[in-house]
Amino acid sequence: MKISLMNVQRQHEMHAAEYEEAALKILRSGGYIGGEEVTAFEEEFAAYEGAKYGISCGNGTDAIVLALRALGIGKGDEVITVSWTFFATAESIAAVGATPVFVDVLPDTYCMNPHLAEAAITERTKAILPVHFYGQSCDMDSLRSICRAHGLYLIADCAQSAGTTYKGERRNTLGDVSCFSFFPTKNLGGDGDGGMVLTDDEAIAGYCRALKVHGSGRDGLLALKRDYRMKGIPFPDNIPVGESKYYNYLIGYNSRLDAIQAAILRRKLTHMGEFVEGRRKNASLYNAALSDTAYITPFEAPDSAHSYYIYALKHPDAQTIMEKLQAVGVPCGTYYPVPLHLQGVFAQLGYKEGDLPITEDLSRTTFAIPVFPELFDEERDYIVHALKEALNG
Ligand SMILES: Cc1ncc(COP(=O)(O)O)c(C=O)c1O
Repeated sequence: MKISLMNVQRQHEMHAAEYEEAALKILRSGGYIGGEEVTAFEEEFAAYEGAKYGISCGNGTDAIVLALRALGIGKGDEVITVSWTFFATAESIAAVGATPVFVDVLPDTYCMNPHLAEAAITERTKAILPVHFYGQSCDMDSLRSICRAHGLYLIADCAQSAGTTYKGERRNTLGDVSCFSFFPTKNLGGDGDGGMVLTDDEAIAGYCRALKVHGSGRDGLLALKRDYRMKGIPFPDNIPVGESKYYNYLIGYNSRLDAIQAAILRRKLTHMGEFVEGRRKNASLYNAALSDTAYITPFEAPDSAHSYYIYALKHPDAQTIMEKLQAVGVPCGTYYPVPLHLQGVFAQLGYKEGDLPITEDLSRTTFAIPVFPELFDEERDYIVHALKEALNG
């Protein structure tokens, strides 16, 4: 039996005619950049997650960069985040010139520890950037009130948490600005790269919209005026002002969601209930089957509905278990093997082993197994059997 850790092909096959028709329509239309499908997907995804504005972009990494830039975060600023995440979270902070400040996660949810985040605030801190890791919601009430008390922005990295709820609603997982990824394996995955920024703030939305197309046009003009206003400097009256795309006001990016991706993602969004329920069903069957074993199954915070982008088990000898699983064709892997505070690229920040003990322990003792919604029952049964066997000698 050949099982994949994540199988996007099978997701395509489930609704192939629908996705292919949507893509073909774009191919035949000649309208490959922007257009109705992109705008409609922005509106529909924002409505699904419970935000006012959706600004699509090239990928989830860019979504974080756009969010940080729109909030005016850059050189000299600190952003508190987690080390127990995918590299892009901290990479984006560094890419805008700011410094990521890493704090440890909670041992049960694997998400940012709010107390440690608050303790890490300095006069240079501009934002807290938690990650809804594996699809589990962070303690958003605590993080929101810390941000409010200290005048900080709350930026949510929702790359792994499309469909996750906190206190019964998806919108409760959102920050002042929230960043999503539509990488193919994600809960809502396109057939290529894609991302989106969500916010309720019209000015931030406009700023992101300008940044993603070279800081141009009307949104760019408004963004530049906002920059001058924020600095208390009068807007110069001698610069060329126009609202076409050939008037550039910010150093931005070329980061657009393709019309083909938008068209496919719109169709996939209509199946999100089924996708998230499929992941949750697989997770709950694993939990039940492994409850009396030495594996620690994922904790689900009582006020969050986990969307299980990743289902990870914890075991003190995870490395040996993974070798045994791989030997019998069960795919598995650590997400992620090197915590960010120990990555070579961040060596100059001065972190050392032992600084974030929970994160470091999780990187050694957890491993993911397939949880994608289209996993067959017999595949799941085989995985459970192999997991139990791996514990025997
Ligand atoms: C937590 C997290 N943040 C950011 C990203 C970046 O998203 P993308 O790969 O779409 O750039 C990802 C996904 O890859 C992620 O898992």
